[in-house]
Amino acid sequence: MRFHVLTLFPEMVERVLNTSIIGRAVENNHIEINTVNIRDFTLDKHGKVDDYTYGGGAGMLMQAQPVYDAWRSVAGCGPSDQNAYRDSGRRVRTVYVTPQGIPFTQSHAMDLAQEEELIFLCGHYEGIDARVLEEIVTDYISIGDYVLTGGELPAMVMIDAVARLVPGVLHNDESAQTESFHRSLLEYPQYSRPEVWHDKRVPGVLLSGDHRKIASWRLEQSKLLTRRRRPDLYAKYLEQEDLIRRLSVNKRHNIHMMECLSRGRGEILVNDQEALLIYDRECRLCMLSAKDIRGAQRLMDVMPRETQTALTSQEFLNELLCESMGFETRCEFRQACYTQRNPLPVRHKDIRLLTTGDLDYLAAHYKHENREYLAQRVRAKALWGAFLEDRMVGFAGSHSEGSLGLLYVEEACRGQGIGASLEAFCINRHLELGYVPYGQIHTGNEASIRLQERLGLYLSKESIWWLEREEKGDK
Ligand code: ADE
Repeated sequence: MRFHVLTLFPEMVERVLNTSIIGRAVENNHIEINTVNIRDFTLDKHGKVDDYTYGGGAGMLMQAQPVYDAWRSVAGCGPSDQNAYRDSGRRVRTVYVTPQGIPFTQSHAMDLAQEEELIFLCGHYEGIDARVLEEIVTDYISIGDYVLTGGELPAMVMIDAVARLVPGVLHNDESAQTESFHRSLLEYPQYSRPEVWHDKRVPGVLLSGDHRKIASWRLEQSKLLTRRRRPDLYAKYLEQEDLIRRLSVNKRHNIHMMECLSRGRGEILVNDQEALLIYDRECRLCMLSAKDIRGAQRLMDVMPRETQTALTSQEFLNELLCESMGFETRCEFRQACYTQRNPLPVRHKDIRLLTTGDLDYLAAHYKHENREYLAQRVRAKALWGAFLEDRMVGFAGSHSEGSLGLLYVEEACRGQGIGASLEAFCINRHLELGYVPYGQIHTGNEASIRLQERLGLYLSKESIWWLEREEKGDK
């Protein structure tokens, strides 16, 4: 992932971001930080980039021209272009860090981490001429209700929060999932050696070796801490728990929403008797359910603009989404849930994590998804291959929104239990992560339905639908 920082103080940004974990991520080519000195683009012979504000008022304002030209130097557009579009047809996301922006949260970090390239614009003095902001900025973001002397520190805060979500940046991939703000709860207290310090003992349960007890103690501590320090977050947590309980009445049909919430990815945007909308910011996916047309209509008004995919629980929603929001219905599924806690036996032993070196094989054999998506799943360490005599013969993994899938076995190797082993292996991994494993099976795919039943998964009676829409260039 590439970060461009437009600033008057590039050395300040470079010095900080070349250190510690972010510095290591740059060295290992997981991310790239490109600083651009706005002053290099001024046409003023004294190097001036600021001027007085029209209408009077204290302080100076950064002028439009040097900011625009600095931005254009990285946004990659021709000299006459008004806006910068990449080959994909999408505008490069340009974040202006400003106390007038919306407050930065973990879900913004997750959203921004999906981009391949981001531009951060750092202001100074009294700000920047509004005309250039109108032309180039896609997101106005603040790091809090206080005013700093410039945008560099806030930009670095956001870059740090986004970069650590890029696969490979943190060594332990799971650590990004279990800490503060996971599931709207603050992280529980942690302890290291010695066992007694200043007469204070490490809580006994942490020395018990009983992982279930430890997990439940930690959850209780998280709840206590959140209730005391962040009652606003705690209220959100309670709403999620209550919704998960209500959805569990029809668990198989609702498992995608329940897991999205319990894995800490879902934001509840609508939740009442008539309609439900859960948004997964990480993959820009809306999960929708409505009682009737009136409820459905309300969902359309609330859906985030950048939504690319939708999972609907009732068919009548599809028509509305296609007609008024530009979606197309791609497929109809039934959901398969593994509701037991015990891991499954995996008969085929040679199963390995796949790497980018395996992409040609994956793209040549898996026709339901494009190469870029498969590459993204490999980068997320979510695809596993089955090998026979050191040659890959099949693979399986998990999709970006968390369901199991992407199962393929070479025709010549079918009927030997390799597909079942791959799926059982993936189910066991999800169990280890504390998930309820589930998959989405195309209606009518009898072979897959038989496999799910053989492995002990239960299928939903009702369908859900997967809808997509083309990315718009109006981010
Ligand atoms: N620039 C100055 N203060 C700021 C803040 N609180 N957030 C983002 N950018 C800023």
